[in-house]
Amino acid sequence: MADLTLEAASPDETFALGERLGRLLEPGDFVGLIGELGAGKTLFARGVARGAGVPEGQVSSPSFAIVNPYQGRLPLYHADLYRLGDVDELYATGFFDLVGSGGAMLVEWVDKVPEAVPASWLCLTFEVLGDSSRRLRAGAVGARPNELLGDWLGYRGTQR
Ligand SMILES: Nc1ncnc2c1ncn2[C@@H]1O[C@H](COP(=O)(O)OP(=O)(O)OP(=O)(O)O)[C@@H](O)[C@H]1O
Ligand SMILES: [Mg+2]
Repeated sequence: MADLTLEAASPDETFALGERLGRLLEPGDFVGLIGELGAGKTLFARGVARGAGVPEGQVSSPSFAIVNPYQGRLPLYHADLYRLGDVDELYATGFFDLVGSGGAMLVEWVDKVPEAVPASWLCLTFEVLGDSSRRLRAGAVGARPNELLGDWLGYRGTQR
C-alpha cells in the first residue's frame, strides 16, 4: 500500500484537492473518506464532484439518502454511511449494486461499515489540525488506486 500525507491549509485547498482528484476519476474507482465530524469530507466531495463535471446544483449532503447519484462526465455516487447500523442495512440501500456498475464511488464514513470497502480502493483520512487546517492522509490499496494516487498528487510509489 502506497501512502502519502499532506496538509490543506484552508477550505479552498481541500476543495481544490478534491477537484483535482475528480478530474482523474474513472468508472470503477472507489474513494473512501474517513474523519471526525467537520473534518472536511463533504467539502472535499464537493470538489471531487466539480472536478468530475457534475453541475453545481446536483451536489448535496447524502446524510439522509445514504447514496446520492450525480451525473458528470461519468456517474458519481456520493454516499455517507454515518447513520448506518450494519452491512445488512447497507445491502438494503442498493449500495453494492452501484459498486462496479460503471460509476465512481465516493463514500464518507466508510469506516462505519468495513464490509463496504472493495479489494481496490483509495482511502483518504482527514484530521483536524486547527480552525482552518486539515491533515490529509491518502492510502492506495491496489494497482489502479496506486496509479490514481500517483496522478493526483504527482507521486510514484511502489505497489504492494
Ligand atoms: N482546511 C480545511 N479543509 C476542509 N474544511 C475546513 C478546513 N478548514 C476549515 N474547514 C471547515 O470545516 C468544515 C468541514 O465540513 P464538512 O461538512 O466538509 O465536514 P465532514 O467531514 O463532511 O463532516 P460530517 O462527518 O459531519 O459530514 C467546513 O465548515 C469547512 O469550512
Ligand atoms: Mg459530511
